[in-house]
Amino acid sequence: MINLQGRHALVFGVASEQSIAWAIAKRLHAAGARISLGYQQRFKSRILQLVKSNEIPVPFYERCDVTSPEETEAFFAKIETPIDIVVHSIAYSHPDSFAKPISGVNLEEFSTTLAASAYSLIPVVRAAAPKMSRGGSIMTMTYLGGQRVVSNYKLMGIAKAALEHSVRELAADIGPKNIRVNAISAGPIKTIAASQIAGFDDMMRVYESVAPMRRSVTQDDVADLAVFLGSDLSRNITGQTIFVDAGYSVLAMAELQR
Ligand SMILES: NC(=O)c1ccc[n+]([C@@H]2O[C@H](COP(=O)([O-])OP(=O)(O)OC[C@H]3O[C@@H](n4cnc5c(N)ncnc54)[C@H](O)[C@@H]3O)[C@@H](O)[C@H]2O)c1
Repeated sequence: MINLQGRHALVFGVASEQSIAWAIAKRLHAAGARISLGYQQRFKSRILQLVKSNEIPVPFYERCDVTSPEETEAFFAKIETPIDIVVHSIAYSHPDSFAKPISGVNLEEFSTTLAASAYSLIPVVRAAAPKMSRGGSIMTMTYLGGQRVVSNYKLMGIAKAALEHSVRELAADIGPKNIRVNAISAGPIKTIAASQIAGFDDMMRVYESVAPMRRSVTQDDVADLAVFLGSDLSRNITGQTIFVDAGYSVLAMAELQR
C-alpha cells in the first residue's frame, strides 16, 4: 500500500462523480493525502454536493478557471502550502468545434481548445512550482488521439499532442527543482467530457472487443496510476506519457475476425 500521509494534493478537474479527477482525489485521500480542489464555476453546485456528501474530507475548495490569470492568481494566493501533488485533469472544446474536420477549424476554435486543454498546464505549473518546496509530482490527463488519428477526436487530438510535449518541456524545465511532470494516457471512460465525442458508445464497444485485455478502463484504473505517480515510488519518472488503456495503444490493427 502506498503511503501519502502528510502530503497535500491539489486536484483540478472535478465536475461530477464520474470525473477522472474525483476518482483520483478519492484514491489520493485513501493513501493518506490531504485534498484541495480547484473547480470551474459552472460546476459549483455539483462540487458543493460532492463536498457535502463527505465521501472524503475536502478542507479547501475554490473556483479556479485556469484560463483566467486573475482567478488562477487569486486561487494560488489562498491555497495552503506546501503542495506535494498537482493533478491537472482539464480539457474543453466548444461542442460545435469538437467534431469539425480539421481543415474547417478556425483560429478562434483552435485557440479556445488549446488554451483550455494544453496551455492551461503551463500557468498551473508556474503557480504551483514555487509552492512545492518539498519537490513533488504534477500530472495531467491525455488520450491516444494526441498521437494517432482517432475518429471524432480531431481538434482535441491536436491539443493533446501539444499537452504531451508541454509535459516533456516542463519536466526538463522544473526537474532541477525536484518536481516531476507526467501525463497519463487513459482509454475511453464515460464522463461529461467524453459525452461530447460523437459515437463514444460505439467507440467503447470496439475498444472492449479488440483491446488486448478485452475490457475498457475505469476511473479507478487511472487513479491507481495517479497514486503511484504522486508517490516516491515513481521518483525518477518524469516527462513521460504513460498509458492506462488495457493495451489498446500497442495495436496497429485489431485481430481479424474469421
Ligand atoms: N473520459 C475519457 O475517456 C478520457 C480519456 C483520456 C483522457 N481524458 C482526459 O481526462 C481529463 C478529465 O476529463 P474527464 O473525462 O474526467 O471529464 P470531466 O468533464 O469530468 O472533466 C473535465 C474537467 O475539465 C474542467 N475544465 C475545463 N475547462 C476548464 C477551465 N478553463 N478551468 C478549469 N477547469 C476546466 C471541467 O470543469 C471539468 O471538471 C481531460 O483532460 C480529458 O481529456 C478523458
